[in-house]
Amino acid sequence: MWLDHMHYSVVQPQIPYSEAAVTQTVESNNPEAPTTPRDTAPPNQAPGMSIPSRIPAALKRRIPKYSDLAPLMQFKKPEFSRAAKLQRASTIWDLRDMAKRRTPQAPFDYTDGAAEAEITLRRAREAFLDIEFRPGILRNVSSIDLGTDILGEPSRLPVGIAPTGFTRMMQSEGEYAGSQAAEAAGIPYTLSTMGTASIEDVAEAAPNGRNWFQLYLWTDRDRSLELIERAAKAGNDTLMVTVDTAVAGARLRDVRNGMTIPPALTLKTVLDASYRPAWWFNFLTHEPLTFASLSRYTGTVADLINSMFDPTLTFEDLDWLRETWKGKLVVKGIQTVDDARKVVDHGADGVVLSNHGGRQLDRAPIPFHLLPAVKEAFTKDNSDAAIILDTGIMSGADIIAALALGADFTLIGRAYLYGLMAGGRAGVDRAIQILEKDMTRTMALLGVSKLSELTPDHVRILGK
Ligand SMILES: Cc1cc2nc3c(=O)[nH]c(=O)nc-3n(C[C@H](O)[C@H](O)[C@H](O)COP(=O)(O)O)c2cc1C
Repeated sequence: MWLDHMHYSVVQPQIPYSEAAVTQTVESNNPEAPTTPRDTAPPNQAPGMSIPSRIPAALKRRIPKYSDLAPLMQFKKPEFSRAAKLQRASTIWDLRDMAKRRTPQAPFDYTDGAAEAEITLRRAREAFLDIEFRPGILRNVSSIDLGTDILGEPSRLPVGIAPTGFTRMMQSEGEYAGSQAAEAAGIPYTLSTMGTASIEDVAEAAPNGRNWFQLYLWTDRDRSLELIERAAKAGNDTLMVTVDTAVAGARLRDVRNGMTIPPALTLKTVLDASYRPAWWFNFLTHEPLTFASLSRYTGTVADLINSMFDPTLTFEDLDWLRETWKGKLVVKGIQTVDDARKVVDHGADGVVLSNHGGRQLDRAPIPFHLLPAVKEAFTKDNSDAAIILDTGIMSGADIIAALALGADFTLIGRAYLYGLMAGGRAGVDRAIQILEKDMTRTMALLGVSKLSELTPDHVRILGK
C-alpha cells in the first residue's frame, strides 16, 4: 500500500505552472519525426490532447524595450592607435603577434629563432608549462610585494632585462627603450657587448637606472680591460660575463634569411619593406647602428659573432677578470651543477643558469630543470652566491615558479624584445606590466604575499 503510493507520486509529478503558461499542441518540423499527436504524446497523456507549455515567464520571447537596451549600449569609437593595441595585448604572446606584423622577417627571426632545430627553446618553454602550482587558501593576500634584493641592491620586481645584441635593429629605440623602461620599472637592465648603443649613451639615457654590463671576454686583455673600465666609469655595478659562446650556435633562420648587419637592401627586403613601412622609415631616419664595443660593422651575423667569441678562454681568464673588476661579478651560461660550483669557487658573486635562450647548443640542459640541483648544492656549500635564471620565460607565472624552486632572480630576453618590436619603449613598458600583473595574480592565488614565502612545495613538476 505504502509502496503503491510512492510509485504513484513518482510517475505523476505535480509541476507548478506559471500563470502566464500557454498551452501548445506538440509539433515537429522534422519530416522524419512522427506526425500524429498519438505518436508524440507522452505515455501518460491521451492522444490528441494539447499540453500546457512549461516555459517560465522570464524565458518567453518578447520585443526588447529601449529601456532594456540602453544600459547595454556602450559603443566606443574604435581605437586603432599603437597605444590602444598595446593596451589590448594581455600576454607576451599577444606582443609577439604584434611584433611579427610590424618587423621585417630577418630581424624578427633573428630574435624569435634559436639554434639548429630549436629544440632547446621549445623544451625550455615547455618546462614551465609542465608544472602544477599548489596553492594555499585563506591567507590574507590583499597586498602583494614583488620586491627583492639582488646582488646587494633592491629591485622592485624579481626580473631584469637580459643582454641582447643588435637591439636597435629590431626596433630603432633599441637599448634606449630597454634601459629607460627598466629604470621606470625599478629593475636592472643589462647592456650587451653587442648592444647597438654605447655604454656611455645608455648611462646617460637612464641615469637613475641600475645598469649592468655584459661582457664577452677575450684573451686579448687590453680589449676587455678597456670595456670594463668604461663600464665602471659609467656607473655599472655588475659585470655579467657570458661563457656559453666558445663559437657561434647555428641559427638556421638567419642563414636562410641571409641576415646581415645592417640589413642589406635586396629584392626580398625591399618587398618586405613595402608592407612594413614604419620599421624601414624608423630604421632609415635614425642614426646608423653602432655598437657598444665595436666600431661600425658590416657583414653577416655569423661572421660578426664569430669575431666576438674567443674559443681559447679558460678559468684563468675568469680569475683575471675577478681580480680586475671590483664590482659584482656574475657568470652567465651555467649549464651544470659542477660548473656552477666552480665559478663560485673562482670568485663569482652569482651564476646565471642559462642556455642563451636556446641560441647556442641545441638539446642543451634546461635551466628550470637544473635549478633545484644548483640550489641544493649551494645550500650544502653554505654559499650565498645569487642564482639567476633565464631562457623560456613568457609569463609572470614562469617567474614565480622559478623563484619557488630556488632562483633569486630571473632575466627576460625575448619577452621584452617582443614588446620592443611591437611598440618601442611603450611596448617594453607593456611587457613589464604584463609580467608584473601575472606575478601579482599568481602570488595571490597561491596564497603568498611576499617572495620569501615561496617554497618548492608551491610547485610540483608533472611526471616526477
Ligand atoms: C636577440 C637576442 C640577442 C641576444 N644577445 C645576447 C648577447 O649579446 N649576449 C648575451 O650574453 N646573451 C644574449 N642573448 C641571450 C639572452 O641574454 C638570454 O640569455 C635569453 O634571451 C634568455 O631566453 P629568453 O629569450 O627565452 O628569455 C640574446 C638573446 C636574444 C633573443
